[in-house]
Amino acid sequence: MDRLAKRGLGLGARTATLAVILGMAMSCAAQSGAAGQQADTHAAPGLSGNWVVVSGSSDAPIRSYFNLKQEGAKITGTIRVTQFYYKIVESTGNADGFTVKGTMQDGNSPRTVTYEGKLVGDELHLTTRRRPTDQPTEVIAHRAAAGEGAYPERVALPALHKVKDNGLVRTPPMGWNSWNKFRGKVDDASVRGMADAMVSSGMKDAGYVYINIDDTWEGERDEKGNIQSNKKFPDMKALADYVHSKGLKLGIYSSPGPNTCAGYEGSYGHEEQDARTYAAWGIDYLKYDWCGARNLYTDEEMQAVYQKMGDALLATGRPIVYSLCQYGRNEVWKWGADVGGNLWRTTGDIGDRWESMSRIGFSQDEHAPYAGPGHWNDPDMLEIGNGGMTDTEYKTHMSLWSILAAPLIAGNDLRSMTPSIHDILTNREVIAVNQDPEGKQGRRLSKSGDQEIWVRQLTKGAQAVALFNRADDEAKITIRWSDLGFKKAPGHVRDLWAHSDLKAQDTEYSTKVPGHGVVMLKVSE
Ligand code: GLA
Repeated sequence: MDRLAKRGLGLGARTATLAVILGMAMSCAAQSGAAGQQADTHAAPGLSGNWVVVSGSSDAPIRSYFNLKQEGAKITGTIRVTQFYYKIVESTGNADGFTVKGTMQDGNSPRTVTYEGKLVGDELHLTTRRRPTDQPTEVIAHRAAAGEGAYPERVALPALHKVKDNGLVRTPPMGWNSWNKFRGKVDDASVRGMADAMVSSGMKDAGYVYINIDDTWEGERDEKGNIQSNKKFPDMKALADYVHSKGLKLGIYSSPGPNTCAGYEGSYGHEEQDARTYAAWGIDYLKYDWCGARNLYTDEEMQAVYQKMGDALLATGRPIVYSLCQYGRNEVWKWGADVGGNLWRTTGDIGDRWESMSRIGFSQDEHAPYAGPGHWNDPDMLEIGNGGMTDTEYKTHMSLWSILAAPLIAGNDLRSMTPSIHDILTNREVIAVNQDPEGKQGRRLSKSGDQEIWVRQLTKGAQAVALFNRADDEAKITIRWSDLGFKKAPGHVRDLWAHSDLKAQDTEYSTKVPGHGVVMLKVSE
């Protein structure tokens, strides 16, 4: 729900409507009681056929399909809306006014969607509600050719094998991604602007390298099946050349399904061809998002699905970081590296809110054993600077992701950062913890109420220690040196946000930590 609602915000108004409709897929079970109550047998022909809704912007259209068959009082068929493909299982009414309910299986959970509609001339007017109490949102469908948008057949999967390590990202990747701030509004100009700002702001010097285009760049395939970018990205190769000219690298996004999450063309059935296209464009990083694959494969089959693209990327001969995005399903941390993955999402989508960021960040402890050079747990991209949290909370975000050896993929508008956001994102002492060459993910040492101490083992026997206060109000937190394995006070204690050395007291260090805040130390003999 959160994910889809959030997605809608950044897309154009028409796409937002579609996103609201999609969101309903997660919540409409509660309203399904409205369906099936009255069967109107009045014969009004005209619903049968294939119907298309075009949403998104004219530069980047998205198509959804309603393939309906009306027989007397019964309407059957399918609904294909962005990443979801439903079979109609219940209906009432006719062309003068009808309701259809569709269902699908998504991993281990069923999803449902309900539309009400009527034929108006030769347009199909459809409404849906995200929640029963919401105002209905409307889309208009037009007739489409039979077979257009038909859902592809399931392709058999390869046997599992271990994909060779590509040798990339020995420390967690650092860069920027378009989704958190721009959603569907990312285009060539904003990506170039971000590359410029990455350099001029000093972020590049601080270690940020990848400029990653997320969903909504995709156009249609040409007659040979080659994926093309949509009008927002007139020339992907030229864009890659530009980003490379700044000493940066370019990332792109796709899905193993026929559609991406926002409803654009995915790589399904074109995995090797797409990998070759990315390599020819000069792409250096691929985020590969489960999305439409959920209609064809079970969660247990994900490994083979992801292995396909892992093989395809390797076969191009170009170094391309492989980022798995399937929201942490099917214990991806256990097999992500085997399919050639350099990082894998461990959770659903982050939101620019304390509740979301802290819930995700503080739930990563158990994944620690699976991280290491070249293969990282990814609790999702940074929200620092997007405006929904305080600077104190953003410092906690940066500290926690660094303790977790998580990818540092900024998600804000780098062209207009405040000085304080700039300082949070470029704190080199905290980044040095994130980029520690041993690549050991930190763990929770202790928890007492809302106060948590996390520790990350660093190279040369040093330790990063973060004293987190998850409470709303200031609290005192104490770290005992013996808990870090010291027999006496450590020789060096550095406060990584104050940028100052501390005098270690004999047995412990005690400090006040603001609500939702952190004190982060580096401690060594
Ligand atoms: C999913 C991913 C997000 C983003 C969107 C794009 O929700 O988890 O990070 O890529 O899709 O549609």
